[in-house]
Order: sequence, then structure tokens, then C-alpha cells
Amino acid sequence: MSKKKVLVTGGAGFIGGNFVQYMVERYPEYDVYNLDELTYAGDLTKHSGIESKDNYHFVKADIADRETIIPLFKKEKFDYVVHFAAESHVDRSITDPEIFTRTNVLGTQVILDAAKSIDITKFVHVSTDEVYGELDFDPTTFFTEETPLQPNSPYSASKASSDFLVRAYHETFGMPVNITRCSNNYGPYHFPEKLIPLTISRVLNDEKVPVYGDGKNIRDWLHVQDHCSAIDLVLHDGTSGEVYNVGGHNECTNLEVVKTIINTLEKSDDLIEFVTDRLGHDKRYAIDPTKLEKLGWKPTYNFETGIAQTIQWYLDNKKWWEQIISGEYQSYFEKQYSI
Ligand code: NAD
Ligand code: TYD
Repeated sequence: MSKKKVLVTGGAGFIGGNFVQYMVERYPEYDVYNLDELTYAGDLTKHSGIESKDNYHFVKADIADRETIIPLFKKEKFDYVVHFAAESHVDRSITDPEIFTRTNVLGTQVILDAAKSIDITKFVHVSTDEVYGELDFDPTTFFTEETPLQPNSPYSASKASSDFLVRAYHETFGMPVNITRCSNNYGPYHFPEKLIPLTISRVLNDEKVPVYGDGKNIRDWLHVQDHCSAIDLVLHDGTSGEVYNVGGHNECTNLEVVKTIINTLEKSDDLIEFVTDRLGHDKRYAIDPTKLEKLGWKPTYNFETGIAQTIQWYLDNKKWWEQIISGEYQSYFEKQYSI
């Protein structure tokens, strides 16, 4: 029997990259295809450990390029599609929203049309809790799968739009789909424009860390490995047409996150620099993961063990993030922050 084929879009990015490695190692009986355009956020050096394996394949392509994507699906006849490829940074969506609509909405539409043209077993659309909007600081309130979508940023609006397209392809064409909505991820290979890797890399270089507003906004942090195991479970066991929220009850204020990193690295809180708040800054995200837990998912990290592992990874892999922050990232940082 021929091997099952799993297409992972955005597999050169942070979460998609971790997921590709997870699948290649865990399922030698699957052929894993990583499709990525290699934007500023994509990098293949992270896959040096798996690139020579027989069950790993790379395709460089733009998900919005219909002329390439449809024939590729017809040729390869993928069994599973796990769709990560996206523009993913809220701050970039505030300064340049258009690319978010192109990639996240039109790109998803092309991937759905391609999946519709063949007989797939499951399409998992990797979305975000940010589509639900924001919660207030009442710690007893959570996002459930029934929470209405009220996206606030151009990023979350584009992700919500793509969620609706995925839902529509299930309702209209009967496509076997799941949507996962995860809280903020952290872990190895996180691009250093996001809060946790930005803080670790800057603290290690004794540079100031920009904290937006008063630092009291809350995010619900999940280690990327736990996100990978959640997607694996939903891919194989999720009921078609269902949405699954992913989160491990690890709420922290941004200031708590930054101080934890500074303390672990035995540096001074003087590195904290409060800067102008993000426009439309969502106050709080928090996930109720009951539905996914009932399917059998359990995270392996809490924030304490996960952040310790992540800091150690950045200490051990300085070459990876130094190569990123010394490239075009530097001009991005200077434009974004005047510190
Ligand atoms: P990332 O920015 O690190 O990676 C995105 C990847 O997509 C990159 O490799 C990039 O090259 C690729 N890509 C971008 N545009 C493309 C295009 N037009 N064609 C092909 N490839 C393209 O993102 P991430 O943080 O790994 O997030 C992955 C997915 O998970 C996104 O859909 C995001 O919305 C979702 N998500 C992220 C988080 C988080 O905390 N980072 C949480 C929940 C959900
Ligand atoms: P981020 O990592 O960009 O993820 P998201 O916006 O998707 O939640 O930001 C996490 C939180 O940290 C968010 O409340 C904004 C804040 N933040 C800072 O305070 N300083 C920074 O330099 C960055 C990038 C984010």
C-alpha cells in the first residue's frame, strides 16, 4: 500500500516547522510535504535534522498562486492537509494590513479549492483564539467554541474570514474539516519579533525590552509541542465540521512574562522599557479547552517548565536567532520601536 501523504502549509515557520518535525519523527509511515513560500518568517535551516529523511519533502510555493497549487494537489493527491501558512504578526497587520487579506484569506481559499479538487481525508485549519476578540480581566471568563467571533485586529479579522471559508466548504461541499483555535504559542524556533523570543534575545544581549502600555494585558501561553500534539489528535480523531479550542490554562500578564525571563537569566528589571501601547490592544485572551480534553488531549508543559525549556533552547541555539536578528529584522525593529 502506498504511504499516506500529509501536506503541511507554512512548515518553514514557527509552529508549522515544529509540526513538520513532529510528524516526520512520529509517523515514518506518512510522507510529509512542507509547502512554504519562505517569506521573512520562513527558514529551512531549522530542518537540517530531517531534510535527508525519506519521508520529508519540501515544495516552495505561494498558497495564493492558484496555477501552482491546484495542479500540485491533483498530482500528489494528498490525504491530509494541515494549513498553517499565514501572515501571523499583529503589529505588522497594523502597519501593512493588505498582505494579511491576500495570504490569510485568498491563500486559504486557494488551498480549499485545491483540496476540493481531490478526495481528502481531513483538512485541519490552524486558527487562533484571537478571532474571538478580547476578554475583560474577570478570571472566570473564557473563550469557548461557542463564543461569537469578534476579531479586533486586521490579523485576527483575516483569520476569522478564513475560518468562515473553511466552515463554508464543509457546509456547502461536505469537505471533512476541523478548525483549531489555539492560544499564544512559545518554544523553539519562535521568530524574535514576538514577545517571548524578542525578550529572550534582547535580554541575552543586554538590550532594552519594549513592553506595550502598562504591561498588564494577559495572554494564555501554550508550549508549541503541546499545540502539535493537539493538532495531531484533531487530525486523526476530530469530528468533521467541529471547532476545537487549544489552551493549557497558563495566563500571565506581559510584565510577568518579561520579568520571569529576566529573573531566569539573572539580569536586571532595568532592561524593561514601557513604550506606547499597541493600537486596539486586546486586553486578555483565555481558552476553555474542555472539548479538546474530552477528545483525549493533555498538555505536557505548564508555563514554568515550558519557559525554562525555551530559555535553555535559546541559550543553546544562539546561532539560529542571531542569524535572524542580524538580517532585515534589524530595520523592522528600528522602525517599530524607538528604543
Ligand atoms: P510564522 O509567521 O512563524 O510562519 C508562517 C509561515 O508561513 C512562514 O514559514 C512563511 O514563510 C509561510 N507563509 C507566509 N505566507 C505564505 C504564502 N503566501 N505561501 C506559502 N507560505 C507562506 O507563523 P506561526 O506563528 O508559526 O503561525 C502559524 C499558524 O498558526 C498561523 O496560521 C497562525 O495564525 C496560527 N497561530 C499562531 C499562534 C502563535 O502564537 N504564533 C497561535 C495560534 C494560531
Ligand atoms: P505577541 O507576541 O505579538 O502576540 P499576540 O499579539 O498575537 O498576542 O504579543 C504578546 C503580547 O505582548 C501582546 O499583548 C503584545 C505584547 N508585546 C509587548 O508588550 N512588547 C513587544 O515587543 C511585543 C512584540 C508584544
